[in-house]
Amino acid sequence: MNKLIGPFTQIVTLANLPVKGSIEDEQLEIIDNAGVSVDEDGNVLAIKTFADFDQDAFKEIETIDQEAVLIPGFVDCHTHICWGGNRARDYAMRVAGKPYLEIAKAGGGIQDSMKKTRAASENELKDVTVERADRHFSRGVTTIEVKSGYALDIDNELKMLRSIKSADKETKADLITTCLAAHMKPKDFEGSSREYLDRVLDTLLPKIKKENLSNRVDIFTEETAFNVEESNYYLSKAKDLGFDITVHADQFSTGGSKVAVDNGALSAEHLESSTEQEVKMLAESETVATVLPGASLGLGMQYPPCRKLLDAGACLAIASDWNPGSAPMGDMLIQGALLGAMEKLSTAEVFAGMTFRSAKALGLSDRGKLEVGKLADMQAYPCNDYREILYNQGMLPPFKVWKKGN
Ligand code: NIG
Ligand code: FE
Repeated sequence: MNKLIGPFTQIVTLANLPVKGSIEDEQLEIIDNAGVSVDEDGNVLAIKTFADFDQDAFKEIETIDQEAVLIPGFVDCHTHICWGGNRARDYAMRVAGKPYLEIAKAGGGIQDSMKKTRAASENELKDVTVERADRHFSRGVTTIEVKSGYALDIDNELKMLRSIKSADKETKADLITTCLAAHMKPKDFEGSSREYLDRVLDTLLPKIKKENLSNRVDIFTEETAFNVEESNYYLSKAKDLGFDITVHADQFSTGGSKVAVDNGALSAEHLESSTEQEVKMLAESETVATVLPGASLGLGMQYPPCRKLLDAGACLAIASDWNPGSAPMGDMLIQGALLGAMEKLSTAEVFAGMTFRSAKALGLSDRGKLEVGKLADMQAYPCNDYREILYNQGMLPPFKVWKKGN
């Protein structure tokens, strides 16, 4: 049944904005006193001045009786929200000065989350994933990528992916699964990194395909996880198996973004250590440069060179990296606002980074803009000027969020 929603003080559509490069706020399409109509499949039918709609043509009208700014729902293209336990101990050590990689070597870090995630049942993992996804949804995030990678053996990685799939059925947000079995070689694996990757390639990835658990594969490229050579080997094989690929790249040292570009990855993610050379390479490629301000905040380290990436012409996506270790906060709105302030990004660049540009990192072109035919995934803020959204630095949450018009 077609439905009309409005009137909104402003609708910021993000239509007609470029996929790559810098954007000025003056380029934003803003429709005042506007409405949006939605078809029975949850796609946008029309967006225009509310008075120009023939209200008699709609069986249902959802009236907005307060000042409201409507923007597309956020797409969080990089999270690890399926995990057991917590890492508050690591965090306390980090803020007191012990480096992340040292804590990892001493038995904390990913290996610690691995023990707790292996110990959790599929149902328990499903429940915590739904809880986190629901919190995200209430703050405007309508699509959430969720990685495995805290189990690191065949059966438990499958358990994680199945639990994310079940969570997808219980939360309003769309969950997109990614296999991150190549997060780190587990301490209890007797064999080389290459042998671990072969085990994943030969045993896990075919099962994932067969059960239709994911069509995406990620790897953590870093000397302390998988080096460049191992990463290239793994990704080229994963691609041959038909997976889309993405890379945890340039977080502590460079190398990963070149792996991403060379292998035609959808995205290179993190980039805190990227230099001019990586910025240029990413800008000249079709690989999305995804930045994760939550990891900079959680680890107390520098932000990625966002301004430089945009000025060089890259497609800059912004995601939360929500995880128990490096990025425990997990809030897109706060992180987007802070990143904009620190890296001198326009509001349009932050909105683009959290919507259609992050959708591109997931290979999705059906969302992230409010345009005819795209999903009516939307969020409304209680204000009358879109600039108030980031100005409030996360403290002005949306009062209403729609998934496919509902
Ligand atoms: O994106 N860098 C590697 N992986 C995650 C963190 C994992 C963890 O600390 O639990 C990240 O930051
Ligand atoms: Fe991550």
